[in-house]
Amino acid sequence: MTLMNSLMAQSAQCPVGVFDSGVGGISVLRHIHALLPDENLLYMADSQYAPYGNKTRAEIEARCFVIADFLIAQGVKAIVVACNTATAAAIDAMRARYALPIIGMEPAVKPAAAATKNGVIGVLATSGTLKSAQFAALLESYGRNVKVVTQACVGLVECIERGELESECTLALIRQYCQPLLDEGVDTIVLGCTHYPFVKANIQAIVGCHVGLIDTGDSVAKQLQKRLLTLGLLADKQAHTTVKFWTNSQADNAKQVIETLWGEPAEVKVF
Ligand code: DGL
Repeated sequence: MTLMNSLMAQSAQCPVGVFDSGVGGISVLRHIHALLPDENLLYMADSQYAPYGNKTRAEIEARCFVIADFLIAQGVKAIVVACNTATAAAIDAMRARYALPIIGMEPAVKPAAAATKNGVIGVLATSGTLKSAQFAALLESYGRNVKVVTQACVGLVECIERGELESECTLALIRQYCQPLLDEGVDTIVLGCTHYPFVKANIQAIVGCHVGLIDTGDSVAKQLQKRLLTLGLLADKQAHTTVKFWTNSQADNAKQVIETLWGEPAEVKVF
């Protein structure tokens, strides 16, 4: 536990901190805000260091510590790691280091295995997630009775970071990465990276409506609600809540990308 963390009193009215390697975790933030509208939210996009998917465990861990220290200094009562890659690489180290509740996420292999009708599921994720010990354990636990076809989507996170949800480059990558899954006959695809829900409609159009797409943003929001409730940290009903964004992106359109993905004008600061 850091000194800062131990000194910081947590109360129900403190904000919840949410972060990702970049803007992808805003897909999770939207679920959190929809389920828990009375919570003040603070989102950090570590876009300068995106993608995490090709970084070492030690590099990702170091970034997670920098961001968690920052969020804790802002007085957050809980942290949501809105990133599958960061969760796989760093959540154990974060939980060992900090005392506040830390909620992570993992690709939805379990619900996909329950949903598939033909027993063939696909997982789209970063190479970091797919190579992790956590993902191997997930397959061991829930992927035994189904065929799991995995596909690393190199370059897709970068397109979404640039705000290119419909560009030819984005669509070409989606086609390239979905085809091997279709060739294997998947009927269910897990969106195993928080950036991908922002191109869900394009993925659906390419794979066809007979293929189900599953992501975990809603489950993460429910898990957060459960943890806050258990700890007596759920915010009281309030008329005005704030959702604030921080980014270290160097791009001129950083605020515009965040607002597009969030869906409305937003307070965006640089860290
Ligand atoms: N959005 C992240 C995830 O859920 C990671 C993207 C990346 O930085 O590679 O895995």
